[in-house]
Order: sequence, then structure tokens, then C-alpha cells
Amino acid sequence: MDAPKEIFLKDYKLPDYYFDTVDLSFFLGEEKTTVSAKISVVPRVDGGAAPLVLDGVDLKLISVKINGNELKEGEFQVGPRHLILTSPPSGNFILETVTEILPHKNTSLEGLYKSSGNFCTQCEAEGFRKITFYQDRPDIMAKYTCRIEANKSLYPVLLSNGNLIEQGDLEGGNHFALWEDPFKKPCYLFALVAGQLESRDDTFTTCSGRKVALKIWTPPQDLPKTEHAMYSLKAAMKWDEDVFGREYDLDIFNIVSVPDFNMGAMENKSLNIFNSKLVLASPETATDADYAAILGVIGHEYFHNWTGNRVTCRDWFQLSLKEGLTVFRDQEFSSDMGSRTVKRIGDVSKLRTYQFPQDAGPMAHPVRPHSYIKMDNFYTVTVYEKGAEVVRMYKTLLGSQGFRKGTDLYFERHDGQAVTCEDFFAAMRDANDADFANFLLWYSQAGTPIVKVTSSYNAEARTFSLKFSQTVPPTPGQPVKEPMFIPVAAGLLDSSGKDMPLSSIYHDGKLESVACCGQPVYTTVLRVTKGEEEFTFSDVPEKPIPSLLRGYSAPIRLQSDLTDDDLFFLLAHDSDEFNRWEAGQILARKLMLSQVANFQKSSPLVLDPQFVHGIKCILLDSSLDKEFIAKAITLPGEGEVMDLMEVADPDAVHAVRKFIRKQLASQLKHEFLNLVKENRSSEKYVFDHTNMARRTLKNTALGYLASLEDEEITELVLHEYKTATNMTDQFSALAAIAQKPGKARDDALADFYNQWQHDYLVVNKWFALQSSSDIPGNVENVHKLLSHQAFDIKNPNKVYSLIGGFCASPVNFHAKDGSGYKFLGEIVVQLDKLNPQVASRMVSAFSRWKRYDETRQNLAKAQLEKIVSANGLSENVYEIASKSLAV
Ligand code: TRP
Ligand code: ZN
Repeated sequence: MDAPKEIFLKDYKLPDYYFDTVDLSFFLGEEKTTVSAKISVVPRVDGGAAPLVLDGVDLKLISVKINGNELKEGEFQVGPRHLILTSPPSGNFILETVTEILPHKNTSLEGLYKSSGNFCTQCEAEGFRKITFYQDRPDIMAKYTCRIEANKSLYPVLLSNGNLIEQGDLEGGNHFALWEDPFKKPCYLFALVAGQLESRDDTFTTCSGRKVALKIWTPPQDLPKTEHAMYSLKAAMKWDEDVFGREYDLDIFNIVSVPDFNMGAMENKSLNIFNSKLVLASPETATDADYAAILGVIGHEYFHNWTGNRVTCRDWFQLSLKEGLTVFRDQEFSSDMGSRTVKRIGDVSKLRTYQFPQDAGPMAHPVRPHSYIKMDNFYTVTVYEKGAEVVRMYKTLLGSQGFRKGTDLYFERHDGQAVTCEDFFAAMRDANDADFANFLLWYSQAGTPIVKVTSSYNAEARTFSLKFSQTVPPTPGQPVKEPMFIPVAAGLLDSSGKDMPLSSIYHDGKLESVACCGQPVYTTVLRVTKGEEEFTFSDVPEKPIPSLLRGYSAPIRLQSDLTDDDLFFLLAHDSDEFNRWEAGQILARKLMLSQVANFQKSSPLVLDPQFVHGIKCILLDSSLDKEFIAKAITLPGEGEVMDLMEVADPDAVHAVRKFIRKQLASQLKHEFLNLVKENRSSEKYVFDHTNMARRTLKNTALGYLASLEDEEITELVLHEYKTATNMTDQFSALAAIAQKPGKARDDALADFYNQWQHDYLVVNKWFALQSSSDIPGNVENVHKLLSHQAFDIKNPNKVYSLIGGFCASPVNFHAKDGSGYKFLGEIVVQLDKLNPQVASRMVSAFSRWKRYDETRQNLAKAQLEKIVSANGLSENVYEIASKSLAV
């Protein structure tokens, strides 16, 4: 292995050569595929005949020509990663190469590869270089044509980007198709698909009256499962017109579903390629969560057509420019299609559960990283989810209309360009003439800011003050941080629980009016920009309870001086539903931490009756949304609580969470039983918010009940399992049964496999349910499942279900005997030889090893050291493992 090279943002240089047009021609064969590329090359500055360096990996060069003349030895150099044209002619020229590749041997699922017999591509981030020699960087934008030739009976469908302009039969049972994409694009958006596929066809008429053909391609037997994906696509197209004023720009839009895919999906221009788990759904085989994920990801990839494709990234450090923005757009889309509060709660939970730990660990990086070894490792929750929070803050600061002005200007200025995060910032600022202070720090400083707030009421002066202080913890390479610009949405509750109208705020020696256009204002956005800062509300008639960071207006850890009574009050009354949920979560986290301390002292665990009462009130409040209730009665996850401890103790946290769940179940058994009975339905499955919310609440209640040792409940859960008419209910019941080891569990798991063994997506759920189980000594079962006939280490979804699922159970993965670590260590080395991207995602489970006690630290460290010293290790795994060890 070459010494891994770190690439830095500060080293960005404009390319010496641009590519104007690219004509590709593929001959797809069983043994090998031949790729011919004809590129028109334009030097950026006249005269300079700098060498032209083309990227290329795992390619066999057959020939290279310039302006029709074959290059001779000495005129070019080929190495394992590059083809260098030593002295190209000055001025424009035509470069032609012919290369051979081996798609059937490509297990990395990057470049051109085969998935269940069909050809498909994945080029982002740097996979195009595995297809042909090219300047594989996103600021090279060209117009493409793509000719595909293949055997007609094996590969009846031939697809690429843009419009089909010619097709026909050829000798020897072959046929061809010629595609032309009229839009300039970076090579990471190139795609090709060839195989035995059929399409669900529909149309969408755009706001300007153009009719777009929509096609979702799958193997024939899966076609009935594409109805929801098509519904989602049409909804996304309409929403982007309505909310962002973005119209689709071609006459055709294709989606292809493939079973072997490293990530969720890919936004290739007019030819999106999807992991089949994010396309295929039927009520019998997919859960509500699957339906919601499909809606969100179909939206996400479609929205990339403007945020990512029409306006793309200058370099890969700018990834959040397209991903943060597009995640924000898909979050808003899902909110508008369902419940805004519930969607927000889910997104914030995801941020806390996955991004906060990343931001506090060895892989912490800014939303725009400063360096990387392997770009694939930076498709992270920080770039995606924290990046979306950064975009959301612009909207919080500017309001809906100001934000829309900003995006309009962004598209107007940069259509057809490859740009940077500053360009987005500038569009937001210029369109609104806004003062964004040091907002750009959100792109460059890693770490989750900690904001402390204390409050005081002055009855005489009728003022209420909030004093903020902020710190940003050190992260690798960034020991000292500057204060950030933090928008804090705040309101004040009176003693009856109603919002007080806000009049004016004294800040920085100035009195600013909050009220606007004679309308009362109940929430205002405080602009916290300094290390320490005070805001004083005037005309406050009584001591208020502050509701802070409404809607989670900034991705920070807020530590307030609110008492438990204040929090119970907010839980019961806050007009901001997100903050009602948040108040409950803060209480639950405190409670869990206090009991963890008891557990560690071997003192008995106790459950505060006020907490039970708070939960009971939420349960019985029929004015609340049912999915909100389900979220509000769900305790913070084990990882979230461990994240708050000095030394993470998985056994204690697990025992405590289990104890509280069981206590709640026994004290509220009657209420939970009623919820199950009242929210059952045997009616036909409908995917809408009302029905999803009903099922979620019922199944959450069932999950609580199943933690009890109770014959009657075992009967009930089995009954729910057997009478379920959709996968949401069936799988929830199975999960409830599977909480406890024993015959009922074994029988139900066997029955489920028996019923669904022919549906690989359902079998993946079955793998994940078992691997992520908290039952004692589960590593044994996972070991056995590795050799189950349905498992295949080459398929990423199966690896994520079985291996990834196992790492999601802290008690088992962090087992004190090191068995979990040993298991993962061995798998990572094996996996790395097949698929470095997937191996790298798995090895990340080790990254926070320093958070645990010494015994665990030593065991985990030993595995990381073993991995780093493995022969032929990929750069992907090397980067994560070595950075994890470096802390
Ligand atoms: N751009 C894709 C998205 O919408 C991400 C993606 C898909 C990806 N496949 C990939 C990133 C492979 C890296 C490698 O989020
Ligand atoms: Zn994306």
C-alpha cells in the first residue's frame, strides 16, 4: 500500500484543463467491459502546456490518442492511480482512451459493478476513476453522451443520463442505446444501468406545463412494490415547485432499484440509483418507518437535481453545500407531508444519538472538513445532519420569506457552476442585506457548543434576564475555539401556562422592540454571539418560566437552571410542542443518570412518582397527537445517556433503562392495555399520519407491556403477532416477544423466518432484530447467523443488519469479556478485502473506545491495533482506525 496521503482544503487549486464534452462508449461483456472515452480538452489558460494528470484505478489501458494520433512510449505514463500525459499540445485538443474493466469482480460496489446479474454504477465520490481515465473532481463539468452496447437478451434495458436519442439491434444478438445529457455535470453524477428490468410508468406535469415521463425500474417480480415510491416522487416534484420554486428540467426521470448498494441512494442526473430497501414497499412487507424513509430519500435524491446537480460543489470539502442543504429540504418535505413536530423530534434525536458522539470523538470534524484521507469517510452525520441544522439556522434567522429570497438568489447566481459554502452564505446575506456576524464559524469549527443559561426575575423592575455563556470543546486539531453565533428561539410562559406577549428586550446597551406590525409576538430569536451575554425582557408582569431553544433552533447542548418543577410545567404546557417533548427528555435523562449512580453504588433503583405522573398525564391527554405521545413516553436511548457520563457504563445504563421501562409498564399497565385495545385496527393499511400515529402509539404501549413477566401479556403479544395484517404491527409484536429469551421468542423468530424467507428485505429485518438484541451473550447467536444461508457478506444491507445491528446493542458489543470487540475486529479485516466503504463504516463502532473503563479500553484498543497492522488494509479503514488510536 502507498503511504496514505492526506488532502487539504487549503491546497485547492483550479484545474489546468477543463473538459467540455465527453463521449463514452461501453461494450458490456461477461468477461470484461471495454470503455472508450472521447474528451474535448480545453486548457484553462492559453499557452501553458502543463502535464495533464488523469485519475484511474483498476483500469487496463488499451490505447491513448491525442487528436487522432496514438501516443507513443514517453508521451505518457501509467501508474496504479494515474495516467499522465507529459506534454499535451497547447490549445484545445481531443483525447481518446480505450480501457478495460472487470465489473463482475468488483465487490467494492464503486465504479461499474454487477448487482444480481445487472450492471450498475456508483461514481460518487471518486468512483468514476474506476470506469475510465478522467480528472475525477467535481469542478470539471462537461456535457456527456453515452453509448451502451450489450447482449440483448441478457441486458434488454440500457439506461444512462439524459435523453435516449437512438437505439437499435446489432449483429450477434447485441443491441445498443445512445443517451445524451444536455446539462453539464461533474463525473460523479454519471450513471449507467443495464439489465433485466421493468418499469412502473407515470407522468408529472410541471408548473410550466411540461409532461415528464417517470419510470421506476426493478426486476419484474418487484414492480408491485413501487407504488409508494412513485407516489413519493410525484409529491416531491410538486413540493419543490411549491416551496422552492424549482421545476424539473428534463422530459424523463428514472429511478433504478438495486439490492447491492453501499449507501441509501444516489442522485445521478435523471437516473437515480437506489438501494432497494429505499424503494420497495408493500403493507405486508414494509413498516411505517420504511414507508417514511422511502418518502424522505426519494425526496432527497430528487431535490439534489437543483441542490447538487444544477449547482454543484467546487471540491469535496464543500460536500455539505449539497448534502446539508438537501437533507434540510427533505426534512422540510417530510414535515409538510406528515407532522412537523414529530419529524423535528426524530431529526433532533438522530443528531443527539449519532452526531453529538461523533463531534466529541476522534473523528470530530467541521461541517466543512479541513482534510481527509478518503472522502468516502466524510459522508457523515456531521456533514449531513449538522449541515442541515446550519441551513435551518439561516431560515430561523431570516424567516421563511427571507430564506426563500436567499435560495432564489443562490440558484440565479450559480446555476451550472461548482461553488463553495461561502457562495451559499453570500446569497443568503445579499438577498436579505443581513448581518450574519461570525456565522461562518459553523462551517469551520468542529465540536458541539455548550451553552449555559441562568435566569432572574426582577419583580420591581418587571424585567426578566437571561444570561448566556458558551464554550466549544476542543476537537482533534482545534484545541482553542471562538464563540459562535447561536440563534436561541425563546418564549416566556405565565403561571397559567400561556405564552406571554413579548414587548422589548434590552441587549448590548440597546432596547429593541420585539413586537412587530402591532401583532403580539410570543417567540423571539435571541442572537447569542459572545462568550458571555445577557438579554433582558422588559414589561414582564410576573415571574415567567422560559421556554428556550424552541424547535431546537441551534445544534448545541443547552444547560439551563430550570428546576424539575419548571420542566414538568413545560412538559404540561409549552405551546412549542418540541419543547414539551424536550422537557420530558431532560427530566428522563436526569432521572436515568441519578439511577445509574445508584446502580453503581449497588443501591436499590427507584422511580420518582412525579415522573410516572408526568408520563401518565401525557398518555391520557387526548388532545395530543398520538405519535407525539409515543415519542414523549419513549426514554432517551442508552447511547445518549452514556454520552453524558464521565466514564460510559453500558451495563449500568442498560439496567436502569430496563428498570424504568418495567416500572412504568407495571404502574401504568391499565393505561397501556387501553392504548393497545383502542388503537388496534384490522382495516386496510393506509400510509398517512393519522394511521401511522395510531399504530406507533399502540406498538409503543405493547413494547412497554412486554417487559412485564405476565402470562396475560405474553398471550396478548402473541395474539397481536398472529392477527397482524401489516408488517408494522407484525414486526412490532415480534420485537416485543423477542425482548426476553425463551421458547416464545424462539418459536416466533422461527415462524417469522418461515413466513418471509423468500423476501430478502424482510429477512434483513429478522437479522437486525436478533443481532441488536440485548439478551445476554448474544454474540454467540450473531456468530451462528453469519453462516445462515440467507447471510451474504458481500451484500451491504445484510452486513448493516447483522454486524451493524450487533454494534447497536451496547451491553453486547461492549461485553466486558471483549467478545463483542473480537467479533467486530475479525469481521472488519475480512470485510475490508471485499468492500472498504462498508468495512470502514463498521470499524467506526470502535472509535469512542476511550469513553469506557480501562478493561474495555484495552480490549478495544487491541482490536484496533490488530486492524491497523493488517496486510493490504484499505485507506478507508486505515483512516478511521488510525485516527481512533491517535486520541
Ligand atoms: N449523494 C448520495 C446522497 O444522496 C450519497 C451516496 C450515495 C454516496 N452513494 C454513495 C456517497 C457512495 C459515497 C459513496 O446522499
Ligand atoms: Zn444527498
